[in-house]
Amino acid sequence: MVLRATEFFSKEGASACDPATESAFFSALKMRNGTFKFTQPCRFSELERLIQPFVKERSGSLQEVLDIGVSTGVTTVEFANFLRSNGASAKVIATDLFINAHIVHAWPQLTVLADSEGWPLQYDFRGIVVRPWIRRLDYLTLAFVPRLLARWLLRARARALIAAGSSEVVQMTTRLLSNDGDILFVENDIMKRAPAFAGRFDFIRAANILNLNYFGERQINEAVANIRSYLRGPGALLLVTRTNNARRNAGTLFELLPSGTFQILKRIGGGSEIERQILRSRP
Ligand SMILES: C[S@@+](CC[C@H](N)C(=O)[O-])C[C@H]1O[C@@H](n2cnc3c(N)ncnc32)[C@H](O)[C@@H]1O
Repeated sequence: MVLRATEFFSKEGASACDPATESAFFSALKMRNGTFKFTQPCRFSELERLIQPFVKERSGSLQEVLDIGVSTGVTTVEFANFLRSNGASAKVIATDLFINAHIVHAWPQLTVLADSEGWPLQYDFRGIVVRPWIRRLDYLTLAFVPRLLARWLLRARARALIAAGSSEVVQMTTRLLSNDGDILFVENDIMKRAPAFAGRFDFIRAANILNLNYFGERQINEAVANIRSYLRGPGALLLVTRTNNARRNAGTLFELLPSGTFQILKRIGGGSEIERQILRSRP
């Protein structure tokens, strides 16, 4: 059973939530770019073991760390724990295209969970969860017609209420693992340069985001240029990795050189698929 947003984000929701309930809640939320809010825990234990010596070596100097494309942040919390257990008390910023959401009481019997632009992610109609998104079967049964109509109406209504400040702001981040306030979740598009991030980070991780079947080469180059500009300077680390269906990682740990180019420190599982682009990129 999928929880209602008002239950999931309530104070009691945090203590009542278990991994299966949280996973069911998030994986039923379809973002406006067509992706679902879903990630899996414990993806990086082996990878972390292999990069541990490099992290230990620098533990004293890791002040700020950026994790890009974190989804619900389950693996960010693990990453922060890994850093801490290796002596690094870094502040972690976790970003994703979709972090913030709004609970909007659209009409007396209808509550909508919507993203920052009003895009409906869940309807709660008289306590019953209804999905706003359309699946293939809906085209056969014609259920897509009321769903499209509802989305059109409720998006406008949610957007107006959000703009008027009549919504409860929530973050679509994990409620399972303790986050002692060391992680700050921020909505950010890695394709758009964020001046607030310039020259700040000692370690950046991009896990399961910069994939060649998702982004074109030009977009990858843009993302890499942004990432470079976010690193503090020579010696800063960049980890790019992708997990396959067998839960194995193909990733590369890079170090930024004084020239502004990257060198490989460690290759895991054959290396990152965008290693070539990263090595070729120039400031
Ligand atoms: C597969 S999840 C990876 C989650 C986590 N890093 C992991 O490896 O378990 C990919 C995430 O990247 C986010 N994403 C996609 N495009 C993005 C962009 N341009 N900027 C920031 N995040 C993006 C998606 O919203 C999604 O949550």
